[in-house]
Formats: sequence, structure tokens, C-alpha cells
Amino acid sequence: MKIDIHTHILPKEWPDLEKGEAKMMKDGKVFRVIQQNCWDPEVRIREMDQKGVTVQALSTVPIMFSYWAKPKDTLELCQFLNNDLAATVASHPQRFVGLGTLPMQAPELAVEEMERCVKELGFPGVQIGSHINMWDLNQQELFPVYTAAERLNCSLFVHPWDMQMDGRMTKYWLPWLVGMPAETTTAICSMIMGGVFEKFPKLKVCFAHGGGAFPFTVGRISHGFNMRPDLCAQDNSTDPRKYLGSFYTDSLVHDPRSLKLLTDVIGKDKVILGSDYPFPLGEQEPGKLIESMGEFDEETKDKLTAGNALAFLGLEKKLFE
Ligand code: CO
Repeated sequence: MKIDIHTHILPKEWPDLEKGEAKMMKDGKVFRVIQQNCWDPEVRIREMDQKGVTVQALSTVPIMFSYWAKPKDTLELCQFLNNDLAATVASHPQRFVGLGTLPMQAPELAVEEMERCVKELGFPGVQIGSHINMWDLNQQELFPVYTAAERLNCSLFVHPWDMQMDGRMTKYWLPWLVGMPAETTTAICSMIMGGVFEKFPKLKVCFAHGGGAFPFTVGRISHGFNMRPDLCAQDNSTDPRKYLGSFYTDSLVHDPRSLKLLTDVIGKDKVILGSDYPFPLGEQEPGKLIESMGEFDEETKDKLTAGNALAFLGLEKKLFE
């Protein structure tokens, strides 16, 4: 069984289906050309069957977060996206699970929509951005969202977005290649040093792209924490290393040495297959890297490809058999 925690989908109504592809726009420019597998569940299932993927966790494309908009407008957009997602999941309940999206810039509305996502739409979790406008994920205003996530047993998948695009980041796809791993590292450090994991010990959080640069730089982060507690320990006096093993990352690192480091640092129970389907920076054969790892035994491979996803989502294997 393969469960892919990191895949994106858009509603069927929007793109021009006749052409079989559509252009996503950002700031008046073509941001990305997408194909039918980005919005058509039937095409996705055909590709999942070809690649041996049992279940996809579906989340919106991060460009849709719209945290910059008026809260009520973002809420309406979230409701539209979440309802569409729920309909897609309902059409193939053994192949898809839904991760909702929330108007995070308005925490009260985010809590309401989270409650609806879990109780009415049956989602086991939501996807949130690595930051919310000027807020990092340690912002006190977000704590009611974490309280609700604990109460509702709603897992959080944290995805980088809204990277710096201008200035020195304009060339070579640097916002994706450099900005995204830095975004995710910022999100993890903010949650650790801001005391989020300390205050919300039952919170289940998974960070995209192997936790960005964090697993490789945790030594530097811990050393910095101990050398300059005046800067790093203002809100939480616990060494960042102590939180290793208390959160998840996906497996999307594209290199066997990185995946080995990831499982050593984050934990064999905490790394989840994630492919970023259907986008070009993703793993085109989901799970291929995990399966290629000679040093992983079968039990470890089973955890990485399915068991850890089930634990993160709080779902039972038999739902998908
Ligand atoms: Co992604």
C-alpha cells in the first residue's frame, strides 16, 4: 500500500477542460501551465494505478491560500474549495482523503471552517501555509487554531508558499529551489522556539519537502540556541533537538543520502511518502526513492510508504482495502 500525503488538486469547474490544459495566473503573469491531472479525479486515478499509489491525500495548490484577501472572501473561497474536495473524496473514498484549507488570517473563521472540515466533510486534516502574511506560525493569534486542531484531532500539513520572488531571487527558479526549503525551516523553528509544540503536545504536524533545510541544519540551530539563549530561548527554554521525533515530514528530498539523514534525524516513524503530484518538482514515480533504499528493511519501507501516513492522519488501513 502506498499513501501519498502530498498531492495538489484544483476544482473541476475552473480550467478550460476542452484544451486539456490551463494557465494559472499570478500578478497578471502566467505562473504555471497545468494539465488535466490537476483537476480531473479520473485521470488521477488512472495515473495512481499506473504508479501503484493506493491513496492520495488531496490538498489545494498553495497559491490558492489567499491569506492576503479580506477574511470573508477567503472564507468563501475555502468553503468552495473544501466542498469540491469533499465531493471528490466522496466519489472515490478508498482512493482519496481530503486536507482542507482555512482562512488563517482570521483565526476565528479558520476555527469554524476547521470544525466544518472535520465534522461535516470528514477530513482528517488541513493544509496551512508556512506563514500567514506577516505572522510566523508561533504567532499568539494562531493559538486558537492549534487548540481547535488538538480538540478535533485535525492534522496539519504545513506547505511553504509566498516566497520572496524579486531581487536576488528572480532567476534560476530560486524561490522554489532555495526559498521553499528556507520557508519550511522558518516554520519549524517558529513552532519550536515559539513554544507551539510545548503548549500543544497533541498537535500532529507534517512539514512538506522533507522539512526543508531543517534536518540538515538542526545542529546549527541547536548550537545557536545554546550559545545565544537571549535570542533563541525567549519563548521556550527547551533545546530544539528535543522536539525531534514529535513532528512529521514528507519524504520528498530526491536524494538517497538526504532520505537516510531525514529518517535518522526526524525518525523512521515520522517520515511520510509525499510526491507533490502533479507538479514538476515532485517525485515522478511516487515512492521510488524509498523503495530504492538498500539500508531500509521491509518494515521501515512499509512505515514510510503507508504506516506513518495512517498514524499522522489517524486513519485505519482497512478503510482503503
Ligand atoms: Co506541494
